[in-house]
Amino acid sequence: MHTDSDDIDTNNSGNESFASVLNARLTRRSLLKGSFGLASTAFFGAGLAACNSSSGSSESPTKVLKLSFDAVGKSLADALVIPAGYTATVLFRLGDPMAAGIADYRNDGTENGAAFAQRAGDHHDGMHFFGVGTDGRYNVAAGDRGLLAINHEAITPAYLHAAGATIVAGARTVNDEVVKELNAHGVSIIEVNKNGGTFSYKRDSSFNRRITTFTEMAMSGPAAKTPLMITSYSSDGSKTRGTVNNCAHGYTPWGTYLACEENWAGYFRRVAATDNPNRSAKELASFARYGVAGNGRELWATAVAADPSDTSFSRWNAMKVGTSTDGSDDFRNVANTYGWNVEIDPFSPASTPKKRTAMGRFAHEGAWPGPVVAGKPLVYYMGCDSRNEYIYKYVSTAVWDPADATRGLAAGDKYLDDGRLYVAKFAADGTGSWIELKFGSNNITAGNAAYAFADQADVLVNTRLAADAAGATKMDRPEWGAVNPRNGEVYMTLTNNNSTLRTLASTDAANPRFYNDPKGTAGTAQRGNPNGHIIRWAENNGDVAATGFKWDIFLFGARSTADAANVNLSNLTAANDFSSPDGLWFANSGLLWIQTDDGAYTDVTNCMLLAAIPGKVGDGGKRTITNTDGAATKAVDTYVGAPPGETNLRRFLVGPKECEITGLAETPDGKALFVNIQHPGEETAPNFANPAGFGSHWPDGGNNRPRSATIVITRNDGGEVGGVLV
Ligand code: FEO
Ligand code: CA
Ligand code: CA
Repeated sequence: MHTDSDDIDTNNSGNESFASVLNARLTRRSLLKGSFGLASTAFFGAGLAACNSSSGSSESPTKVLKLSFDAVGKSLADALVIPAGYTATVLFRLGDPMAAGIADYRNDGTENGAAFAQRAGDHHDGMHFFGVGTDGRYNVAAGDRGLLAINHEAITPAYLHAAGATIVAGARTVNDEVVKELNAHGVSIIEVNKNGGTFSYKRDSSFNRRITTFTEMAMSGPAAKTPLMITSYSSDGSKTRGTVNNCAHGYTPWGTYLACEENWAGYFRRVAATDNPNRSAKELASFARYGVAGNGRELWATAVAADPSDTSFSRWNAMKVGTSTDGSDDFRNVANTYGWNVEIDPFSPASTPKKRTAMGRFAHEGAWPGPVVAGKPLVYYMGCDSRNEYIYKYVSTAVWDPADATRGLAAGDKYLDDGRLYVAKFAADGTGSWIELKFGSNNITAGNAAYAFADQADVLVNTRLAADAAGATKMDRPEWGAVNPRNGEVYMTLTNNNSTLRTLASTDAANPRFYNDPKGTAGTAQRGNPNGHIIRWAENNGDVAATGFKWDIFLFGARSTADAANVNLSNLTAANDFSSPDGLWFANSGLLWIQTDDGAYTDVTNCMLLAAIPGKVGDGGKRTITNTDGAATKAVDTYVGAPPGETNLRRFLVGPKECEITGLAETPDGKALFVNIQHPGEETAPNFANPAGFGSHWPDGGNNRPRSATIVITRNDGGEVGGVLV
């Protein structure tokens, strides 16, 4: 394809170093609009410097990005499937030791609970690679030594304990089991080093750290130190204990990690029949909107500590049990201290993580930075992962000063504690707008009928309610986002929706499909949008702080055999068909990685990782599709991106049985790709008398219990993984 230095948004124009492309573009803008001046410009995280230094010779104007592997087939095997010419190495599994003198994991459930404070947690999820320079500090260009920050989203209790969790009459009766589960959540920081072409982790690194549900966290930003945050752990609302259900993640230009709290609400015990009479109407509205009700998914609050002053278990009880007026004698407000983005400095193992309340409280999937430009605000795109929830954008008040790149959590205080929070509204004409969630505007007022907002702290704690008031667009379950380093366009997976919550009548331009995806030989009906899609948008004028954008749908998940007119709208083939997109990650090269967490197409294949070379918003066109529920029909106009074809979209990896493919990180040179294999074998309840029948034995094989694990993938010839500039 013709490459044009003015046309940097096409998928074939990897024709200059990204720094020079961006600077050229910004210079052009500066000339046109006088806006950017001589701003130093960088996408970060994977880092331009590394890109330039590692592949400088490959960036002549004639080079284009091409997928550099043959697609793998769909698979139901209990094995990792990767393309010829690549090697996958298991790096870091559930239970692996993280300090000197810790024994290898026995994987039979016999380690005690405290041991997990120095072992890998379960359910590896979002992660990030932070390069370590020769001075031991963050270096965005370093690719051979790094710190890998890894979320441990949840647990499979059956395999954590010798014979599953002990539950008697609905209560946890073995406290050490609960302690083990509390420690198996959170985050791991591990040092990884390149040895002989691949990576291993350093068991005894002084950087290694476990952050768990026991770790003290500072509440930071506008909702900190307010009455909403008071618990018996913190009578001034300045701190809380722990983080939980950290799903995807974010990262900052100053080398810190954001562990995002997703399905935290379900961990708290709040028996509505008992507690509701003791709570205010506003509290009840908030609990209802976030789903804080029930016994708690792991029943932690039912365990009884031997020492009555030990609140390890009782802090998971969100009921009003004390007599104070402010909540300082119980944990009635504890749920307000969860649902945030948690900033962690991986380079400072003794530092206290901070929950950044300015970024809102919801089921945070992750937080993905937009382009970082000196003199412009920092921007984070965020999704709330539940069906019919919203997409958000945070815009810092402070404008980026590159001198802050070495300031760690102090930089976080500057950029992440003070900003504007917006929610997305997608219009039927292919445009969209960001509506500010600010007390006193956009129906977010004391007079709002659904919830009488008191102040901005109340808005941030009850972000979902504020977004309701503002008229945001309900989406088909936002999961990961990613920002294209070539043009700043934002991609976000909408993993799936069902026929109850996305009815035929409620399809709209941005969530346009309603169809049946028959599953298995019986053809079991799956109606709604069971296969999901990936939406993308371009901010108006390329301005990160814009309040308007243009959008289209990059890809629709589907079986390749599905109706091409109304379901398989991206013309997927056997080499690239998929369902339920979840993880996303852009390589510096512009390659887009797509991961799946699926239950719809699993009659045919396990979950997978695909590589794509995307185009840009508007490269396809308007299309009318006809939805049907089998009886009624409804025509919907939408905007479909240009079908990628097998040239620009191929299946790269298929995981073992019953896993989700998630957590994606990369060295800045693109030569090592870290991927998380979460909860293999999770759907089959184990019979410990018949280990051969476990749902999976990955990664250890034999009759072993399955383990979530981080793998690292490298090319046998040492080249870049997935795609190359040729
Ligand atoms: Fe934890 Fe939204 O997946
Ligand atoms: Ca996810
Ligand atoms: Ca998912």
